[in-house]
Amino acid sequence: MEQEKQIKIVEVSPRDGLQNEKEILPPEKKKELIESLCETGVDEIEVGSFVSPKAVPQMKDTDNLLLMINKKNGVKFSVLIPNMKGFERMMNIPESKRPEKIAVFTAASDTFNLKNINATVEDSFKIIKPVIEEAKKLKFEVRAYISTAFWCPFEGKVKPEKVIYVAEKLFELGVDEVSVGDTIGRASPKDVSELLSLLLKKISRDKIALHFHNTYGMAVLNSFISFRDFGIRTFDSSAGGLGGCPFAPGASGNVATEDLIFMFENSGVKTGVDFKKVMSAVLKLEIPLRSSLSKIQKIIE
Ligand code: COA
Ligand code: ZN
Repeated sequence: MEQEKQIKIVEVSPRDGLQNEKEILPPEKKKELIESLCETGVDEIEVGSFVSPKAVPQMKDTDNLLLMINKKNGVKFSVLIPNMKGFERMMNIPESKRPEKIAVFTAASDTFNLKNINATVEDSFKIIKPVIEEAKKLKFEVRAYISTAFWCPFEGKVKPEKVIYVAEKLFELGVDEVSVGDTIGRASPKDVSELLSLLLKKISRDKIALHFHNTYGMAVLNSFISFRDFGIRTFDSSAGGLGGCPFAPGASGNVATEDLIFMFENSGVKTGVDFKKVMSAVLKLEIPLRSSLSKIQKIIE
């Protein structure tokens, strides 16, 4: 019998990872990556987004990709949706090929949000409200991302009060889960502790995921602290440490799934994920990897 998992991994490399790679991968390559990731033990995979192809050309073929993928092992799929137009594009896919979860997104700082989605935080609530309503009516699970929850590349340190305000608003709108994002990978363990100690007074830890990027090398440590000190159990990560946000200058990739799994498993925390399989899935892409483990060739031999 499978040992009980203590951590849930949301694998975001096909979306957060590949949206920031210069090379636009053909859907066949993405399909291969996603099907291999289904074999690693991760719980969820964010397979792509339905944003404007002008804004993020790397994600323009998410429709085709979903038609091509053969889903395996009961892994849950999600897609990032910015507005009703994106939702309608997703609904055009035959039901059997649709993901069971969608993710809407906003931020905790206006300057970043304007650059990312051309809307202030307040305006973004109006844009995503009908998406959340429709999605819930049709029994999709709904996640919402809060980008720049610790630091904004344009406004500097973001106040926890702002993040709490946005999170509460998102739950009022009906989302099931909020993923709190360190979009530019600038958060220190102190920043994480400060935000979580305030946020968890208002919102149950079971409804919060954390989404760390690794620009300053803090992402694994921040994940550990979130789990050990605050009981957070859902973490977003990207195989190979791929990723970043095209609208956040200087930001590096997500926390690498293999580094995160290695850290948790070797600290006695069950994840159910095989980090060697994660590495072999992403090595097939022949993209330079940014994880710490990828530098140690011996591990995967
Ligand atoms: N999918 C495809 N095209 C879309 C779209 C969607 N979800 N939403 C809007 N568009 C198209 C419109 O049809 C319109 O096309 P046209 O110029 O040919 O008429 C054009 O985009 C502008 O539409 P508008 O509603 O005014 O959008 P906008 O210019 O304010 O842009 C977003 C808003 C959200 C669509 C855009 O900023 C975007 O896609 N950002 C990417 C965000 C992202 O993925 N960031 C990384 C992840 S955090
Ligand atoms: Zn991200």
